[in-house]
Amino acid sequence: MKTERLHGPLPAWVKALDEATFGEAWGEPDTHELIWTLGEAAFARWSVAADEGELLRVAVSPDKRGQGLGRALLQACEKELDALGVRDLHLEVRVSNGAARRLYVASGWRESGLRKGYYRDGEDAALYAKRLG
Ligand SMILES: CC(C)(COP(=O)(O)OP(=O)(O)OC[C@H]1O[C@@H](n2cnc3c(N)ncnc32)[C@H](O)[C@@H]1OP(=O)(O)O)[C@@H](O)C(=O)NCCC(=O)NCCS
Repeated sequence: MKTERLHGPLPAWVKALDEATFGEAWGEPDTHELIWTLGEAAFARWSVAADEGELLRVAVSPDKRGQGLGRALLQACEKELDALGVRDLHLEVRVSNGAARRLYVASGWRESGLRKGYYRDGEDAALYAKRLG
């Protein structure tokens, strides 16, 4: 399976996976957003401004999790972001999301802070950062 940068409208499978994973699918990306896909199994959505990138969403199809796809997708995104001159990466994630938090640490991200009550339901967000280059 190949990682590809998405150009043009969101494919139906991305919208379906987005909706199934997060409960609401986001619309078409703004001009500062970049999306990469891995086959039709995973996508990652980033916001990029100058030399900073924020990982907004990453999702792997439920039947394809635990096979290294999330890690491979992040690695490929980071390589392309690095080539675009992005240096500092950030993300936030629900503190209860152990799978994602382990993925980030396994991918070289470091925990950089905590936002108390960040989510609408009151859950805290753990912050992670990574420096490229
Ligand atoms: C988080 C997610 C993207 C991980 O993708 P994945 O393809 O299953 O992850 P990988 O197989 O590449 O795993 C990479 C590492 O992540 C960690 N990990 C992944 N799934 C895990 C799980 N269920 N429990 C514990 N650790 C897990 C492990 O450290 C793993 O490395 P290892 O296999 O060497 O132990 C996937 O579970 C997912 O889509 N979750 C729902 C969406 C989500 O929560 N996104 C993050 C917030 S935006």
